[in-house]
Amino acid sequence: MTKTFDPTFLKGRAVLAPMAGITDSAFRLICRRFGAALVYSEMISAEALSRRHSKTIKMTSFREAERPIAVQLFGTRPAAFAESVERLENEIRPDYYDLNFGCPAPKIVKNGGGSALLKFPERIAEIARTVVKASGRPVLAKIRSGWEVGSENALEVAKLLEECGISAIAIHGRTRSQMFSGKADWEVIAKIKQQLKIPVIGNGDVASGLDARRMIGQTGCDLVMVGRAALGNPFLFSEINATLNSELRIQNSEAPAVSWLERMEVIKEHMAMSVADKGEARGIREMRKHLSWYIKGIPGAAALRQELMHAETEEGTLKLLEKIDPEKGNDE
Ligand SMILES: Cc1cc2nc3c(=O)[nH]c(=O)nc-3n(C[C@H](O)[C@H](O)[C@H](O)COP(=O)(O)O)c2cc1C
Repeated sequence: MTKTFDPTFLKGRAVLAPMAGITDSAFRLICRRFGAALVYSEMISAEALSRRHSKTIKMTSFREAERPIAVQLFGTRPAAFAESVERLENEIRPDYYDLNFGCPAPKIVKNGGGSALLKFPERIAEIARTVVKASGRPVLAKIRSGWEVGSENALEVAKLLEECGISAIAIHGRTRSQMFSGKADWEVIAKIKQQLKIPVIGNGDVASGLDARRMIGQTGCDLVMVGRAALGNPFLFSEINATLNSELRIQNSEAPAVSWLERMEVIKEHMAMSVADKGEARGIREMRKHLSWYIKGIPGAAALRQELMHAETEEGTLKLLEKIDPEKGNDE
């Protein structure tokens, strides 16, 4: 099998970012439906996977319709990555693996994983080489611009990853110390794109079709990765695709409004999958944050949000959502 990652084979140029606690199978499938060209799993612990931790194994499962999918792994020990990949190769065969060298969360960096590895490029290289060797398919990597302002080393790390056989790199233009503050630096994406041969996926602050077009224009990136702006708004992928497809004809993209009834259909489907995958109690509990994003901007959302936080069943949740007047829901 070829280990090349060819973005022109994807349908579209906007991909769903990996987001812990969010990009589970249900949400990924919904985003694929609305035109995400590629979806990433939540970050998954290579250490836990290599130990066959059953909850972690469950996190790796996906529906065939989600393909193409990248399963993202985090950790520090190359052997744990290799063992995880060998098992996944035998069991679920995702389209790609992705290595997390960007997570800023304290519980991950205190163990030396995620963005903490940016301080140790040699360890990053060791992990990358090991996974590339263990995997029969392309291995991607995701990095931040550096550990902290003043010690940005994304370009050096990206070049190293390319030398190690990584097939594409996603770059979030913020350092670890910036967490999610300020504006993402797209310059670093442009620099990396100029110097690498492998495809580059730009990430940070894309919230509209026009942003996606601007990022591609300013950086030359092959794909754009969308995270927070897709929360409660999987429709964004179709807006981005429409904007990019009509690039030559129109200057401004007027995103067609999504009616409350359409939104409600998506919510129902999302919730039904969440319940089917996780059981009602956990499925509904995990849906609460999505619901609060889906109803953002709708008149009466604040009060409804409070009620939704206490709903325990699918039926009860739907009853609460049905209180939204479809006409008012459209006034967003
Ligand atoms: C709630 C949340 C969870 C995240 N989890 C992950 C993760 O598991 N792996 C990862 O590489 N990045 C993770 N990220 C970072 C995103 O993938 C992305 O790089 C970041 O949100 C910037 O993109 P955006 O401006 O489009 O949101 C997470 C971000 C958020 C907001």
